[in-house]
Amino acid sequence: MAGLELRDIRKSFGNTQVLKGLSFQIADGEFLSLVGESGCGKSTLLRIISGLETPDSGEVLIGGGVMNAASPKDRNISMVFQDYALYPHMSVAQNISMLLIMARLPLHARLPLLNRISPSARALRPVIASEVEAVAKQLRIEHLLNRRPAELSGGQRQRVALGRALVRHPKLFLMDEPLSNLDAKLRVEVRKEITELHQSTGLTFVYVTHDQTEAMTMSHRVALLEKGELLQLATPSALYADPHSVAVARFIGSPEINILPAEVSSGIARLGAEMVPGRAVNMDGSTLFALRPEAARLVDRHDVSTDFKLGFTRHLTEDLGHEVLLHGTLDALPETRFRMRLPKTSDLLSGTSLDTALHVGFDANNLLFFNADGARLRDAAIVAEASEAAQ
Ligand SMILES: Nc1ncnc2c1ncn2[C@@H]1O[C@H](COP(=O)(O)OP(=O)(O)OP(=O)(O)O)[C@@H](O)[C@H]1O
Ligand SMILES: [Mg+2]
Repeated sequence: MAGLELRDIRKSFGNTQVLKGLSFQIADGEFLSLVGESGCGKSTLLRIISGLETPDSGEVLIGGGVMNAASPKDRNISMVFQDYALYPHMSVAQNISMLLIMARLPLHARLPLLNRISPSARALRPVIASEVEAVAKQLRIEHLLNRRPAELSGGQRQRVALGRALVRHPKLFLMDEPLSNLDAKLRVEVRKEITELHQSTGLTFVYVTHDQTEAMTMSHRVALLEKGELLQLATPSALYADPHSVAVARFIGSPEINILPAEVSSGIARLGAEMVPGRAVNMDGSTLFALRPEAARLVDRHDVSTDFKLGFTRHLTEDLGHEVLLHGTLDALPETRFRMRLPKTSDLLSGTSLDTALHVGFDANNLLFFNADGARLRDAAIVAEASEAAQ
């Protein structure tokens, strides 16, 4: 069992509280991503898990045992960093085997001269070499074992760093933005390899990134941090479809979710000057309506198949081939940006210019509601007039 549990972890640097009481559990074999804006405390938390940093209070449990007092090397954890941290003067094989040699040989036998004559070092050398080869094969870097880091591409260096972490058979694999130095195409490739590595090893992975696509595509669950606090921990699809707050809704999803300020009074909701059809239930005063860009569609101005139909002014079109992104504003809310994501070029767009009046349609059940402070209003709804009249 090598699950991980954090109990009320707190950490300050000087007067700055960086982690404000984090508690959560990661199951044995789970792939969990920690995401959040720069400076929210992701690396600090990872360093606390690995033992490189000490929390001010709180407990780190690995495999059910409290590890606060254990040194990093006794925690049986491997960590991969953004900058790879390879030894430049050593070959790939030496980089990978280095930590095994350190762990298994006494100090005197690690010295180059004694290494050659010490019987324990001589006996160990082929064992380590075969372990290095096995890991290199798994990561497809066998042909690079004699090169130095300077002779490798970014993706190859990252694989060496992964190999070095993997060869130690850790219980927990911690990664701090391991792909951020790679170009976009290589990132997608290594991302897939890390997912496969997780599947083939079955180890517990904690993966730090500020790239939500990485987090969403690789993880079983994602923990979203903001200023040292846990905003939400859930599966990628739950984070996307069922965010607890506007902050979560905004962080997850690209293009960003539309947040529309609304005023509700006596069950009547308004977006700007425009009255929303239907009755607003369980919300009052200033509230926020949120709508994913793909939940909006272009409609003909005579279309009656949609709950909402609002005038839209387009400022920019991004044609990505398989889909089209429209950026603009709803005429009712000219101060608020509105984004739409259409599966392909719509007939309603052909022959139009930026000046052409367009209409956006969407259904009330695709709206999420939040109060003015950004907390989700779960029992809020827009109820169609017709169904109300029928009651
Ligand atoms: N050793 C330190 N001394 C003082 N302040 C620190 C130290 N380490 C981190 N901090 C501060 O703690 C906060 C959190 O840092 P951390 O590195 O954990 O953020 P992060 O979420 O990993 O950010 P990024 O995405 O930019 O890597 C930052 O404000 C940072 O300046
Ligand atoms: Mg960091």
